[in-house]
Amino acid sequence: CTTVASMSYILALDQGTTSSRAIVFDQEGRVVSAAQREFRQIFPQPGWVEHDAREIWATQHAVALEAMERSGADGAAFVGLGITNQRETTLLWDRATGHPIAHAIVWQDRRTAARCDALRRQGHAARIQQKTGLVIDAYFAGTKLEWLLDHVPGARERAEQGDLAFGTIDSWLVWNLTGGRVHATDASNASRTLLFNLHTQDWDDELLALLRVPRAVLPDVVPSSGVLAETESSLFGVALPIAGIAGDQQAATFGQACFAPGMAKNTYGTGCFMLMNTGDRPVQSRNRLLTTVGWQGPPGQHRVAYCLEGSVFMAGATVQWLRDGLQVIQSAPEVESLAAQVDDTGDVYLVPAFAGLGTPDWDGYARGTLVGMTRGTTRAHIARAALEAIALQSADVFAAMTRDARIPLKELRVDGGASRNNLLMQMQADFLGVPVVRPQVTETTALGAAYLAGLATGFWRDADQISAQWQVDRRFEPRLAEAERQAKLARWREAVERAKGWARP
Ligand code: G3P
Repeated sequence: CTTVASMSYILALDQGTTSSRAIVFDQEGRVVSAAQREFRQIFPQPGWVEHDAREIWATQHAVALEAMERSGADGAAFVGLGITNQRETTLLWDRATGHPIAHAIVWQDRRTAARCDALRRQGHAARIQQKTGLVIDAYFAGTKLEWLLDHVPGARERAEQGDLAFGTIDSWLVWNLTGGRVHATDASNASRTLLFNLHTQDWDDELLALLRVPRAVLPDVVPSSGVLAETESSLFGVALPIAGIAGDQQAATFGQACFAPGMAKNTYGTGCFMLMNTGDRPVQSRNRLLTTVGWQGPPGQHRVAYCLEGSVFMAGATVQWLRDGLQVIQSAPEVESLAAQVDDTGDVYLVPAFAGLGTPDWDGYARGTLVGMTRGTTRAHIARAALEAIALQSADVFAAMTRDARIPLKELRVDGGASRNNLLMQMQADFLGVPVVRPQVTETTALGAAYLAGLATGFWRDADQISAQWQVDRRFEPRLAEAERQAKLARWREAVERAKGWARP
């Protein structure tokens, strides 16, 4: 019989957009313990979203300690930790003091939309897509970093002198975990900056010049699976190897064991992100999807896996808005029962373009729109329209992915908090016209980070062992007739058109 003391664990840090989470996994890939804390969302102006990076670190450290304590194991039982994070959120800090020089600009922030217009007008789109796999959009870190360098007094000079460090949230966590000894990111996060060349797997001088970013601010790019440093022992009572890093959507793809080309997953978090593994070479999208690094590694197989990605900016955040903005529900899970009070939305559509629109529209000026209301519209119709909007946005992405893949995708693996919502998952299967498959562990983002770290430390052997741990919880079969499905998607597209361009100056 195995005792807790003789077992070993991996700690995953999952630093998301609205909360910091930490989860302890055992060797079977099961959740042993978890902790979570929300932190402040700062909205200084319409279209702007910021985070205080000190709160991010404080909550992340606190939940890590909490999860470790709840596991009942002592520090020595932990073989390492993996980091996964909200991507693109951009931060500059002082290398000497470790203090951020401003709030982090969050991925949802649209303040650089006009700068992106100018870059497109100057004809840079094709070259940028070819090098980085990305479209020009305020979503990515590059123009946010340029904005910070231009707008925080003294930042550009200090950056050029090498006094400042740039990082996405993974780098910020590594910096703090190592007491400022290590300034690093991994290729999956680097590939979201507009500054990273997919073909050389390195920062690109031409792009650095275009966005006026001094090389001195950049972190080292390390493999997604590999020991890069040890944590300061004062933080957790022991020095833990930091053995994996990946952006949250890439980590979820790994956690869903999408190891073979053509395998895809959709994660329902703050936003909704569908990624499909395309194998060991970057595939350029013809349908406004992104090409992104999935992961680099694990050790011994330091090949890069690439993905095609469709990004939906508002998923769980739409439900959060029903709760906090509109106040028609008191807790997020209530949305399911409220939406189920009506059989349909009564032709009401909510286009949750609160932070612009991502794939496939890429419109930084689109804004939230509610159309089709009558005197009979109730909060139940609006709640149902909100759930439908999450599924319909994902259906648009799925259609683009099917066109790019040129082979029909037979099913979609789902995960993330809202994948527990059965009504939403049924809508998703109905709007896609293919089955939606939910695994037993829906904490796939954290699990992916744990797997990347665990492969690097020998905790897990190989991808086959991980694939064998993936188990189905439930399969949702599509029930909508094809003609009805097409009519629904067409009506949705009409609503989307009405949301576009609203905030264009
Ligand atoms: O690209 C943004 C994404 O990484 C945010 O993920 O889980 O906070 O919705 P999440």
